[in-house]
Amino acid sequence: MSEKHYAVHWQEEEYIYPPPSFVGQANLTDPSIFERFSLDNFPECFKEFADLLDWDQYWHTTLDTSDAPCWKWFVGGKLNASYNCVDRHLDKYKNKTAIHFVPEPEDEPIVHMTYQELYRRVNETAAVLRDFVGLKAGDRVTLHLPMTPELPITMLACARLGVIHSQVFAGFSGQACGERIWDSESRVLITIDGYYRSGKLLDHKVNGDQAVEVAKKLGQDVDKILVWRRYPGKYSSAAPMVEGRDYFMDDLVKQYRGKIVQPVSMPAEGILFLMYTSGSTGRPKGVQHSIGGYLSYVTWMSKNIQDIHPEDVYWCMADIGWITGHSFIVYGPLSAAASTVIFEGVPTYPDAGRVWRIAEELDVNIFHTSPTAIRQLRKAGPDEPAKYNYDFKHMTTVGEPIEPEVWRWYYNVVGKGRAAIVDTWWQTETGGFLCSTVPGLSPMKPGSAGPGVPGIHPVIFDDEGNEIKPGEGKAGNVCIRNPWPGQMQTIWKDRDRYVSTYYGKYNKDPNSKDWRDWPYMAGDAAVMSSDGYVRILGRVDDVINVAGHRLGTKEIESAALTVEEVAEAAVIAAKDEIKGTVPDLYVSLKPGYEASQELAVKISQAVSTVVGKIARPRSVHIVPDMPKTRSGKIMRRILASISNRGDVGDVTSLANPDVVEQIRRQVQS
Ligand code: WT7
Repeated sequence: MSEKHYAVHWQEEEYIYPPPSFVGQANLTDPSIFERFSLDNFPECFKEFADLLDWDQYWHTTLDTSDAPCWKWFVGGKLNASYNCVDRHLDKYKNKTAIHFVPEPEDEPIVHMTYQELYRRVNETAAVLRDFVGLKAGDRVTLHLPMTPELPITMLACARLGVIHSQVFAGFSGQACGERIWDSESRVLITIDGYYRSGKLLDHKVNGDQAVEVAKKLGQDVDKILVWRRYPGKYSSAAPMVEGRDYFMDDLVKQYRGKIVQPVSMPAEGILFLMYTSGSTGRPKGVQHSIGGYLSYVTWMSKNIQDIHPEDVYWCMADIGWITGHSFIVYGPLSAAASTVIFEGVPTYPDAGRVWRIAEELDVNIFHTSPTAIRQLRKAGPDEPAKYNYDFKHMTTVGEPIEPEVWRWYYNVVGKGRAAIVDTWWQTETGGFLCSTVPGLSPMKPGSAGPGVPGIHPVIFDDEGNEIKPGEGKAGNVCIRNPWPGQMQTIWKDRDRYVSTYYGKYNKDPNSKDWRDWPYMAGDAAVMSSDGYVRILGRVDDVINVAGHRLGTKEIESAALTVEEVAEAAVIAAKDEIKGTVPDLYVSLKPGYEASQELAVKISQAVSTVVGKIARPRSVHIVPDMPKTRSGKIMRRILASISNRGDVGDVTSLANPDVVEQIRRQVQS
């Protein structure tokens, strides 16, 4: 547990009050909200969330706990997510922009897609999926799409049919995508021929071909690869189109132009999507989200924590390939009838003014990003925001802890002192926010996520399961006392892993049907101050948070072990000025092999190929041996201290204490 960490980094207890101009227009300013969402009113309080949606059939049971801890929300209800994000807005907003698409090349025009246009495109895409491909409710489809409008269009087309989408972040390798195709048993992969990244048009279809090959080896056949085209007729991927398997989506949709596909009325407890995320084992978890609970949760959060009004221009600069983008670029904002911005590029390309030029041009007034992007922008152009004429009323930070000084730059320079900030703490598994201030109601505290959002009741437990009281100043495992509608249903095809990962430590009676017996363990260390504000310190498990993205150490280590010469591999989280933490890889070699620069490069490349570029280690240290306990366990903690130039502590009880000093000299020289 990170008590030491706490003492070193987090002493901030300053309150900053939301600007009156923000409070005056905010959606939520009624202080009785916390009382209404107290545990005494649980679970019926969540009716307010579900009532933000249009239901084909109203539900009869708010929360069914009979299969605890697989909670069922709004049971008996029927609805369609695509209808709620598109069709229901047509009466009032059909000519309003649903999506502003900002391509990476700055000379390429911005696309402003109205709700009517989005409706047409979702329908014709759904027609292809239903009538040409033959997909039906409950089928799984893997998407490996980058940040273009085709991604939300495809997601919403799936949702229209009750088809479960599993979008894999486009930056993940073909191999990583293939493993997810296999796990989800998808017979269809939807990809794109290419997309822009930092000035380069990347060939992406090649990754799709590799993914399908990997899936096949694992035992999952893919019948069809559907390929959107970034520049139809002007660009083509090096990967050939295989007849009878590969089809261009732009050709197919033409055949269904104008076709209307009735949204399939789905049970609230139907599955909307899977989102794979890293955990403590080498195998990623397919986090499974519901239709009714999830959609009502993200809609409420978009309206009340993001403060989205239909007339706002909202820009979340995350990637839709992660949960942030699913919940807060696509489902929440569109359900709340927002104009949502999709940006293909990266924050500081071609220069540190790009983001602010976009904000000015589109008149963005709600801005959402990660501490890593904020640190990058601050480093590359601390004075840039002042040069541009935009006005944010609201800003979000998400994904990793933010240092108070970085928070202040965000508030004073990016927000020009006029925007409310929310620091939202949550996870892939939680669907939407868990801790955050309510922007029109509560003061901000730099570096602290805030109290539980309405309806969420956080608690900190020590390792023995005793509650650490607010204000005690001690770190512990942050848990949530109650279930909530946005919570994952289970891990796809692995209920046991779901139960043991999130409840194994603190549930005392596995047969209990009472939700009070099942506090949800998030896997983060945190401290709660006496006002109930929660400071997140970081993961307690084998997960590294790189720039707000979760990577499993086991996944990286297994990738390193695919290299013939490697005998053992250990990954640790090294502190990084911009990205928070980055992976640092230690390996030892099999007998008969010599360390060399070429070998280090080869190992690093293996990690890129197997997992993806974002997992590439900062450095590969080829060491004579790993520091080990007498029972043979690799001491990652010692390696982490060496990488981070900390104190390695007492190593005399190790099986090979001498190697520690050797490694230290090698790494720190
Ligand atoms: C992990 C979840 C939440 C969507 C993006 C990441 C860390 C998330 C914060 C925050 C400090 C944060 C936690 C969490 N995290 N938000 N505001 N302050 N840490 O989703 O990939 O599922 O990762 O990100 O460690 O457990 P994810």
